[in-house]
Amino acid sequence: MSQDIYQPNPEFAKNATIKSMEEYHALVKKSNDDYEGFWADYANEKIDWFKPFDTVLDESNAPFVKWFDGGQLNVAHQCIDRHLDTRKNKAAIIFEGDRGDVQTITYLDLYKNVNRFANLLKEDFGVKKGDRVVIYMPMIPEATYAMLACSRIGAIHSIVFGGFSSEALKDRIADAEAKVVITADGAYRKTKPYMLKPVVDAALEGESPVKKVLVVERNHEEVTWVAGRDYSYNELIKSKSTHCKAEPMDSEDPLFLLYTSGSTGKPKGVQHNTAGYILWAQMTMEWVFDVKENDTYWCTADVGWITGHTYIVYGPLAMGATTVMFEGVITHPDAGRPWAMVENHRINQFYTAPTAIRVLHKMGEEEPSKYDLSSLKVLGTVGEPIDPPAWKWYYEEVGNSNCAIVDTYWQTETGGHVVSPLPGATPIKPACATLPLPGIMAEILDPETGEKVGEGESGYMCITRPWPAQIRGVWGDEERYKKSYFGDVQKDGKAVYFTGDGAIYGADGYITITGRTDDVINVSGHRMGTAEVEAAIKKHNNVAEVAVVGKPHELKGEGIFAYIVLKSDEGIADEIAEVKAINTIIKKEIGNIALCDDMIFVSGLPKTRSGKIMRRILRAIAKDEPITQDISTLEDPSIVAKIESMVQCKMC
Ligand code: WT7
Repeated sequence: MSQDIYQPNPEFAKNATIKSMEEYHALVKKSNDDYEGFWADYANEKIDWFKPFDTVLDESNAPFVKWFDGGQLNVAHQCIDRHLDTRKNKAAIIFEGDRGDVQTITYLDLYKNVNRFANLLKEDFGVKKGDRVVIYMPMIPEATYAMLACSRIGAIHSIVFGGFSSEALKDRIADAEAKVVITADGAYRKTKPYMLKPVVDAALEGESPVKKVLVVERNHEEVTWVAGRDYSYNELIKSKSTHCKAEPMDSEDPLFLLYTSGSTGKPKGVQHNTAGYILWAQMTMEWVFDVKENDTYWCTADVGWITGHTYIVYGPLAMGATTVMFEGVITHPDAGRPWAMVENHRINQFYTAPTAIRVLHKMGEEEPSKYDLSSLKVLGTVGEPIDPPAWKWYYEEVGNSNCAIVDTYWQTETGGHVVSPLPGATPIKPACATLPLPGIMAEILDPETGEKVGEGESGYMCITRPWPAQIRGVWGDEERYKKSYFGDVQKDGKAVYFTGDGAIYGADGYITITGRTDDVINVSGHRMGTAEVEAAIKKHNNVAEVAVVGKPHELKGEGIFAYIVLKSDEGIADEIAEVKAINTIIKKEIGNIALCDDMIFVSGLPKTRSGKIMRRILRAIAKDEPITQDISTLEDPSIVAKIESMVQCKMC
C-alpha cells in the first residue's frame, strides 16, 4: 500500500470496541456465514425488548422487508428509561447556546422533559400513534424532547430543516398530512435573534391539514398567535405530569419520515421504522465513534438532517452517551469556536462535515493550536468526499496526528453508517471511506453485469442484502421507492439497493466514493436535487428553460450553476435585476441553501433531437473542462460554442 496509510493509535486500539483488523474480519466472516444469526444476536444484546421478535429478516415481499417482526419495543424507552438505573445523573445532553449559555440535561431530566412533552401532545393536541408531526425547530434541547416525545407515544415525526422556506415546509406538511407542527418563535444566530414562527404562519396559509401549532419560546421575540391554533409550549408544559407510558411499538412501526432530494422536482419522504433503525444507530455509535462511558461526544450537524437524527439524538442516547448540542455557528465569534468548545467540554469525539473543515481551515488555520485539544480521540467526517488537504489539516492540526479520522459514508436512506473505518482497527487513508461495516453487504458493482468490479475499477455503490436500518419506503409512494433504489442494478437476477453514488476499489478492497451518478448535487454536504432548483427557477414568468448542474466550489464542495433561457430578451437588459428576482423565488420556494452560485443567461440549451438536455456538456462547460462528447448529433450543435463563450466571458 502507499505511504499515505495511517495505522490506528495502538494505545487507543487496546481499549477500542473493535481492536484490530482480525476482529473486523472475524465479524465480517460471521455476518457472511450466518447473516440472520449475526443480526439476531446483536438485536437481542442491544435492545431492551418489551416482547421478543419471532423472525429476524422477512424478505418475502422484497424490496419491502421486515426486520425483527413480532417484536415490540419503544425508542424513547431504549434511549432514556433503560438508562435510569445506572445513568440517572449522567449528562444526556450538554447544550451550548449561540451566546455561550450552557445547559446540562441529565438522563433523569430528559426523562421528565420528554414525558411532559409527550403528555402535552397527547392531552392538549390529541396526537395518537401513527399521526404525523412536523418539527420545524432550531438547535435547542426542545427539538430533541419533541423527537423523543413522538417516539414515546408512537407518533411519526418529520423534521424539516429550519433553513427551508415556507413553501418547502408547506409541501412537506401536505405530503405527510401532518396534523401538528412543533416550532419555536426563533433562536439566536451570531448573538442576534432570528425567527422561525413567521415561516410556519406562511406555510399554513390557506388549506392545511395542520390543526395545532406548538411554539417553544426561545428568543421571546414578538410573534403572531392564531387563536385556537397556536399554543405556547412554555405555558402548557407547566401542568404536565413527568410520567407517560412508553407505547409498545412493533418493530416495523414507522419511527420517522425525513424528506430528501432525488432526481425529480419533488422531495421524497424517506421512511425509517423502529427496531432496525435504532439498533444500527446504537451499534454504529459504539463501533465507529467508540464512545466510552465517560466520554463526551459532539456532532455539529443540525437535527433537520439525518446526521442530526442518528448521531446527535438517537445513536448517542440509545447507547447512554453524553451528546453535545450546539445552537450557534461554528465560525462565530471566530473560527476557534469549535476548539474552544472541545477544550471547555473536554470533547472526545468530534463529528462534522468536510465543508465545515474547509471553512475552519481557511478561516482559522492556526486556531486549533491555541486550545487544549488533548481530549480528542476520534474525528469524524460525513456528507461528501473530503479533499486530502482538508483531511491532512484535520488529522495533523486538530487531531495532533493522534486521532483516527473516520470518513463515514452513508445517506438518509441507509439510516446509519455503511462504509467507514473503525478507529481502533482500520488503517486509514486520506479521503477514503475504507471498508464496509460488518453486516453491511456493500459492494461496488458494474451496473451492466451486476458483477463486483476489480481493483482500480469504478462502478455503482450498492448494498446487496437488506440491512436493519434500511429505508422502508417513500411515504405514500411504493412505486417510487422501488424505482428510485431498486431499479438500476441487478445482481444474480435480483434487484439490489443502489445508493446513487459511484465508487472505486483501491488495494485491499478499500472504497473511495467518487460522487453521485444522478442529477443530485452535494452543496455543503446537503443533498440538492437539480430538478428541484430548476422547478423553482421555472416559476419566474420570464424563464423559458433552465438547466442546473453542480460545479466544484472551494468551500461548499459543489456550488449550483444555472443555465437559463429567458422568454424575452427584454429582461436581460437588466441582468442584475433578473438574477435578484430569480433568487427571491428560489428563497421562497426552497430556502437560502438552494441559491445559485452562478446564473448564466443563454440563448438555448444543448439538446438531442428528441429534446433531452445534454447535462454532461453543461457540466463540462461549468467546470471549464474539455467536451469529450460528440456534439454533431445535437439539435443545434452551434449552441455549444455560444454557451462556452458566454460562460468564459462571464467568468473572466
Ligand atoms: C450523500 C447522502 C449521510 C449524512 C449526510 C448526508 C454523500 C455522504 C460521504 C462520504 C463521500 C459522501 C453521498 C451520499 N456522502 N457521506 N463520507 N464520502 N460522499 O446525507 O443528504 O442523504 O446525502 O452524501 O453522495 O449519497 P444525505
